[in-house]
Amino acid sequence: MSAPLSVAELRELDRAHHLHPFTNHRDMHGPGTHLIKSGDGCFLVDQDDRRLLDGLAGLWCVNVGYSCAPIVEAVHSQMERLPYYPSFFNSTTETPILVSEFLAKKAPPRLNRTVFSNSGSEANETALKTIRAYYKIRGQSQKYKILSRTFAYHGVTIATTSMTGLPSCYEPFDLPLPGFIHVPGPHAYGVKSEMDHEAYGRWCIDETARIIAREGAGTIAAMFVEPIQGAGGVIPPPPGYLAELRELLRKNDILFVADEVITAFGRLGDWFASGLWNLDPDLMTLAKGLTSGYLPLGATMVSDEIAETLFSGGYYAHGYTYSGHPTCAAAALANLNTIESLGLVPRVRDDVGPYFQKKLHSLAGHPAVSEIRGTALIGAVELVPKPGTAVAENTLGVKASNLIRGEGAIVRGIRDLIAMAPPLIITRDELDILFDAVRCGLDRLWE
Ligand SMILES: Cc1ncc(COP(=O)(O)O)c(C=O)c1O
Repeated sequence: MSAPLSVAELRELDRAHHLHPFTNHRDMHGPGTHLIKSGDGCFLVDQDDRRLLDGLAGLWCVNVGYSCAPIVEAVHSQMERLPYYPSFFNSTTETPILVSEFLAKKAPPRLNRTVFSNSGSEANETALKTIRAYYKIRGQSQKYKILSRTFAYHGVTIATTSMTGLPSCYEPFDLPLPGFIHVPGPHAYGVKSEMDHEAYGRWCIDETARIIAREGAGTIAAMFVEPIQGAGGVIPPPPGYLAELRELLRKNDILFVADEVITAFGRLGDWFASGLWNLDPDLMTLAKGLTSGYLPLGATMVSDEIAETLFSGGYYAHGYTYSGHPTCAAAALANLNTIESLGLVPRVRDDVGPYFQKKLHSLAGHPAVSEIRGTALIGAVELVPKPGTAVAENTLGVKASNLIRGEGAIVRGIRDLIAMAPPLIITRDELDILFDAVRCGLDRLWE
């Protein structure tokens, strides 16, 4: 066997051959990429054998932590028995059936059927196509426009980038496409509004109603909504906002799609934000925590009415080679059963969620901190530079996250904020470690 490659050799190969997602390659190629070698529970081990507490659960997804033996065993055993067979045409395999049953039992009552895909982007893309088919079958093809919100993140295909409300994601690709309309997301801090969070939320509802009237409700198919906007900066909904938005859409006969790619599977102390906040979505999209990131799997759940309409339309000409991949579904099933058997949902709701929020809000007096947002096991800290220091706008988040990584924990830098969403298995002691590292990193930011 040949000797393992050194870190320097791997970095050189990475520079030569590997294009990373969401990366400034010029900036990265100087120091070289940060290599992660292994993971265990909430901790990762990097190239220098440093143990790092993962305060972002990979990319908001490793809900059960890194060394979940039941998932590994389920995947291994499915691989041995039947690594792959499609669900196209009239066949399928056992595990996607069982995952779809599990999801139907936990989801809001009208959502009983699931279309599988491979990612959150594909789950949303599937929702978009399914909605178009639904209206076409009903003879309402004039309902084609899609609403989403500023600061939203819905994925990276051409259509889901068009829904994403972050200029840094859509401008480089000359998007959004026509027919994708962004209404204001309820992020008072992000637009430097003089209104408080709640008043700004009410203004957003009024503005959304105005845009619906301007476009004509009869031309609008659906609105995609993250119950908490995640990658856009962790933006929890202002009080009353989601209920009013839901009612506005219902009144205007516009489908409500809950994008729960981040918020599902226990992160908010419930299986779904849609259940927690009684959102009664017409469709719900899932990925990430569905397998805790162990294998790729996306899911689009649809209401009974949408399913029945699709059935009446004959052939459903959509799906991916790997829709309902039996091994990915085996990972999902073992993951969902683990979340259930370890009681991770009530654990987040009653124990580590409130403790996380307490630690998060204890940063309030820090001079680098200007706003704190969060719910249960997700949170963000907005940062300001030390007066007199020249810092370019939207760079503090990455700067702070690098300093925090130096202190032994991983958080995500977004614009001028840091975001956190640790594995649901995290303990109070581990949360102390995470927030000690954050505090030290912020101290260094202001040195
Ligand atoms: C709310 C939301 N929707 C969709 C996506 C896209 O998921 P993926 O990266 O798996 O395509 C993400 C990814 O972060 C997300 O946070």
